Amino acid sequence: MKKISIIGTGRVGESTAQILAKDELCRELMLIDIHEGEPQGVALDIQESASLLRFDTRVNGATDAAAMAGSDMVIVTAGFPRKPGMSRSDVLETNLSIIDGIVANTLKHAPDAMLLMVTNPVDVLTWYAWKKTGWPRQRVFGQSGALDTARMASFIALETGYSIKDISALVLGGHGDAMVPLPRFTDIAGINIEHFLSPEAIELIGERTRQGGAEILELKKHSSAYDSPAAAIAAMVDAISHNRRRILPCVSILDGEYGQHDIAMGVPAVLSEDGLEKIIQLNLNEREQADFQRSADRVRADINRLC
Ligand SMILES: NC(=O)c1ccc[n+]([C@@H]2O[C@H](COP(=O)([O-])OP(=O)(O)OC[C@H]3O[C@@H](n4cnc5c(N)ncnc54)[C@H](O)[C@@H]3O)[C@@H](O)[C@H]2O)c1
Repeated sequence: MKKISIIGTGRVGESTAQILAKDELCRELMLIDIHEGEPQGVALDIQESASLLRFDTRVNGATDAAAMAGSDMVIVTAGFPRKPGMSRSDVLETNLSIIDGIVANTLKHAPDAMLLMVTNPVDVLTWYAWKKTGWPRQRVFGQSGALDTARMASFIALETGYSIKDISALVLGGHGDAMVPLPRFTDIAGINIEHFLSPEAIELIGERTRQGGAEILELKKHSSAYDSPAAAIAAMVDAISHNRRRILPCVSILDGEYGQHDIAMGVPAVLSEDGLEKIIQLNLNEREQADFQRSADRVRADINRLC
């Protein structure tokens, strides 16, 4: 990609910018925030690491939304994170007005871009951005499953002591307490985790995964997670930028898949230069489908608050 814009240069936005710049995932990175000096300062700071880290991505900052013109991708990390004790849904109304303006600016200044949503609650805001742009779902999607899956893999590595490099996990559903870790689709070197862990241990890992964001928030108190979210965003951008056709769980607009219509939720999808090229439909068993439905009901309840 020639140009990527990141809207919101707080913790997640800045961490993401560092990885995208270092990995040279685009030629030009534009950082946009509402506080004069902030995005310019972040951009300069990252740019000044280029000689040491050996990258030549150009990094610029601006407060004027017009600076996103010509972007191949717009990544939205602007908005409030939740505070300890809050759910992601609790910031819906606050973040909706922010997203509303950003989507309008994207339509105006970067009408051909892909839109990668990160701001929480990410499922409902991805759905909202899709509705408001009227763009095909290939160009409007969100990040949550890459992160939730990485969290689950980390907890399995910690519990078993085996290399994270051999662990492949899968988490579907909405990015909330009702997300759906799927042990049946989780393995270590191709061997299902039931071979290594008791049902009780697997259940505990699933629950820790569902509470992964809250656990970090409780520890840090003044900030939610941003290093692992940034790595998850970068994995998605890398797949698109290099046309890798990676299969990653992404917040996707569903049109009949998994029994859902007119909703955005995390499901496995193929990411390529065309964006979200294809959704992978898994044959869920009865319990998995019921868990997915419970998660969908939560997302739908948030969508209904907007209608
Ligand atoms: N999807 C995920 O997996 C995931 C993971 C982590 C965080 N998040 C979400 O990402 C968002 C950002 O989190 P953070 O920790 O970086 O917060 P932060 O407070 O550090 O940064 C938010 C930034 O957004 C900026 N901003 C606000 N309104 C704006 C606008 N209209 N245009 C441009 N910039 C604007 C603020 O000035 C601030 O710099 C939160 O909603 C958080 O919940 C999502």
